[in-house]
Amino acid sequence: MKVFVIGKGGREHALAWKIAQSFYVDELFCFPGNAGIAEIAKIPEIADDSVESLLDFAIRESIDLTVVGPEDYLAKGIVDAFEAKGLRIFGVNRKAAQLESSKAFAKEVMKTAGIPTAAYSTVTDFESGNAVLKASKYPLVLKADGLAAGKGVIICSTYEEAQNELSQMLGGKFKSAGTKVVIEEFLKGEELSLLLLTDGTNVKPLLFSQDHKALNDGDTGLNTGGMGAYTPVASGTSELYEKVDKTVTQPLLTELKKRGIEYRGILYIGLMVVKNEPYVLEYNVRFGDPETEPLMYMLISDIVPYFYAVAGKDSSAAADNATMPLFTSIEAMPELVWRSGYGMCVVMASGGYPEAYEKGKVISGLDDVDKNCVVFHAGTKSDESGNILTDGGRVLMVTSHGKTIEEAIENTYRNVGKIKFEKMYFRHDIAHREAERKQNADKNR
Ligand code: AMP
Ligand code: GLY
Repeated sequence: MKVFVIGKGGREHALAWKIAQSFYVDELFCFPGNAGIAEIAKIPEIADDSVESLLDFAIRESIDLTVVGPEDYLAKGIVDAFEAKGLRIFGVNRKAAQLESSKAFAKEVMKTAGIPTAAYSTVTDFESGNAVLKASKYPLVLKADGLAAGKGVIICSTYEEAQNELSQMLGGKFKSAGTKVVIEEFLKGEELSLLLLTDGTNVKPLLFSQDHKALNDGDTGLNTGGMGAYTPVASGTSELYEKVDKTVTQPLLTELKKRGIEYRGILYIGLMVVKNEPYVLEYNVRFGDPETEPLMYMLISDIVPYFYAVAGKDSSAAADNATMPLFTSIEAMPELVWRSGYGMCVVMASGGYPEAYEKGKVISGLDDVDKNCVVFHAGTKSDESGNILTDGGRVLMVTSHGKTIEEAIENTYRNVGKIKFEKMYFRHDIAHREAERKQNADKNR
């Protein structure tokens, strides 16, 4: 098969890395890509990353399967456009992408389906919003309705702060993403990510994982796209999974079907577990970043037949050409198989991120990491002399493994220590909750 990955972050590097190992894949392309992806996939010449240009390329190259990383392409309807031309593409269609691209829509769907989530109101003008703020308890959460590159959620500790934030959001701080604002009850608990492969009816879960959204050690400082992640999570028990399936996943899939929304792709459920009960904080319609890096590292199963089956809608020749039969539905496919132990990644970022930062710093030590460590690239590029340079806020996701969480932490940070670039920044406590859980369990034994 010829496979085409769309995106340029650590998530897409991890997906491309896993896809490149597939039995079924002869040729792998990625666009826009980055310096790390360029080592394992071809970066084609494409004029720009518009849906039209990407579609032209896929038709020209007779791509058998396209895999979409980021949500903005999905929200723009890239899947609808590819499918209209008979191309097989892994990702959700435009209607389904609303689950992420409109928080007000997601909340309304959850309310109708009776899915546990924080109490909320949706407002479009300051006066009615202010009335809600006045009557609320603090802290309180304000969310710009639309896509705001992960920056649209603000936790406000006082009424004054909330008033100020609400007026800024409605006043255009996040452009049109903030014309509607969701005002939401603050939930206190442990945050977990659960990603599912689904064709809208059948579900294949990935392991529970945990991101670290805050910039600094001890979960303090600004909210970021994620500073590190690990998988599995001990609190993500099979009992919790069953609860989520019963109270969140199944009601959601049923509700989407009722609305005539076909959901094929990844369903990312952002959970807050409060006293053992799962509440949905958000849905994403794509793989999480950086959760995907340790998840792909830990996955033993070949992911490509799963993508292929979930993407459905066949008109390509890949099924006939493959030397082994490919499944056309995930219903009959085995559960995903995982390595034992823990996988984790630490994000190495440019100093200043998520606010202003510099680019173009030479990265050293990439070739010195241990054999079983994989450094996924996010914001990197290479120059003419073959140096790898920083080219974004989140630069590298250093990913490794251990039989225990302590061993995973030690292995990962040992490799982080080998990599250097000017003004690099990373958290020192990724997976701290799991390490503390383990210490407490050891103490009580
Ligand atoms: P979201 O983009 O909705 O995931 O929000 C970003 C982050 O804000 C989440 O990962 C949580 O850490 C936090 N957050 C969002 N909603 C709530 C809530 N209702 N209660 C507490 N924290 C929240
Ligand atoms: N890791 C959080 C996200 O991908 O949205």
